[in-house]
Amino acid sequence: MSNSLTGAQDSAPWFNPLRDSDDKRLPRIAGPCGMVIFGVTGDLARKKLLPAIYDLAHRGLLPPGFCLVGYGRRDWSNEEFQDYVLDAVKAGARTEFQDNVWKRLTEGMVFCKGNFDDDAAFDNLASTLQYLDETRGTAGNWAFYLSVPPDFFADVCHQLDRSGMAQATEEHWRRVIIEKPFGHDQESARALNKIVNQVFPEDSVFRIDHYLGKETVQNIMVLRFANQLFDPLWNNQFIDHVQITMAEDIGLGGRAGYYDGIGAARDVIQNHLLQLLALIAMEEPIAFTPAQLQAEKVKVLRATSPVYPLAKTTARGQYSAGWQGSNYVQGLREEEGFDPESATETYAACTLQVKSRRWNGVPFYLRTGKRLGRRVTEIALVFKPSPHPPFSEESAGEEASNNAVVIRVQPDEGVLMRFGSKVPGSTMEVRDVNMDFSYSEAFTEESPEAYERLILDVMLDEASLFPTNEEVELSWAILDPILEYWAQRGKPEQYPAGTWGPESATRMMAREGRVWRRP
Ligand code: BG6
Repeated sequence: MSNSLTGAQDSAPWFNPLRDSDDKRLPRIAGPCGMVIFGVTGDLARKKLLPAIYDLAHRGLLPPGFCLVGYGRRDWSNEEFQDYVLDAVKAGARTEFQDNVWKRLTEGMVFCKGNFDDDAAFDNLASTLQYLDETRGTAGNWAFYLSVPPDFFADVCHQLDRSGMAQATEEHWRRVIIEKPFGHDQESARALNKIVNQVFPEDSVFRIDHYLGKETVQNIMVLRFANQLFDPLWNNQFIDHVQITMAEDIGLGGRAGYYDGIGAARDVIQNHLLQLLALIAMEEPIAFTPAQLQAEKVKVLRATSPVYPLAKTTARGQYSAGWQGSNYVQGLREEEGFDPESATETYAACTLQVKSRRWNGVPFYLRTGKRLGRRVTEIALVFKPSPHPPFSEESAGEEASNNAVVIRVQPDEGVLMRFGSKVPGSTMEVRDVNMDFSYSEAFTEESPEAYERLILDVMLDEASLFPTNEEVELSWAILDPILEYWAQRGKPEQYPAGTWGPESATRMMAREGRVWRRP
């Protein structure tokens, strides 16, 4: 793949300024292109994609003739589409609204009406793109964003193929962006990948895992590989275990159509949390290119498997009514659209192992849940206790525990180190203290939204932050045995909203003499 700014093959300009002579402080601006969004009236487009496109325009990172084409069933004129985008931008954009930015964006904003199986509507879309190429200078470069349920992937890919829109040439590129769920198990993921790859070669498929677009997630690699401080300790000799947590306080009101029958493990562990695990556990890539990075992640995912017996090493739960702060909220089964008998888990935890020289014997505990105590995503590397502290047991403070490096993905993005320190006074009392690096204090620049970064990367043909078909299939292979086991076990345990999940998750850790961190 080439980087459109430098023309360098397989380059990854987001990393390692020291080894690469290009000045990485210069903004990367996409070359001439446009984007078609299928499913433009959906939640994702309204809340994330459209605001991100405006933010990119505001930051001057879109090419001058950029075009945004919405495709959907609504009987909209271009002006009605623009009004809809305006509402989405005003509600969701990160950067300040400016009339001149908006006006420039609307000049290339077009709506095409149609269903996904409508030949004539797709032919009309093809002519529209051609017209825009001629009048706006998009140069035939188009990204197709499939913000639609995977059931429609086949129809849309078929239509893009039939109408010639999927066809790249020497002169112009065509790329497809797809959103999860990439299947519901390994077999269906393979089938889906096959459908997409029949039309788009793998190097023009960009699978979104928006966690990889987060600054703090990219910082995992910088922390590990641009510093000498951590690497000697980053292995089973020093690390006792790793906890990866993605906790949310929100419930699932309004998302029944997507979530019921899917559940927390498929929604979050299969993609976001396994990608975090891969970045934490992988070896240093020999170069920071998409291919080398993906190769290292694949090696880790291939070496990762559940720890058995699953009855003891996994836990799942479903939130029931309870207090979320000062609000009394409904349980999942009372939420609109959910089956009152729903067996969908809203909390999932599992124990994984990475069978490698570096990680053998170090459990990776992954957990995610809705309606938990607070919203937080973090990765904690918890160290083994000091082998022989020369302080008497009485003088060691009660709070003294294991050292930890905690990568706080969100909110309060940063890195925290936890270690024991002497409590002032005449005894050698030890208490854990935190040393904190906070993004907001250290840098003046505000972090871009994950979707801004990822959409720009598609336009720049920068594939580092997109999981490949192989990564997706391997992630399912890790999760499938757990999902099969749960499917035979009936309904998940209930936990009251606002708590930290089901009892079984606490027991899962207690059995191993460990506790979940309370972030
Ligand atoms: C999505 C999941 O991928 O990530 C949602 O489908 C979840 O269920 C969301 O709420 C969380 O994203 P973020 O960026 O707010 O942590």
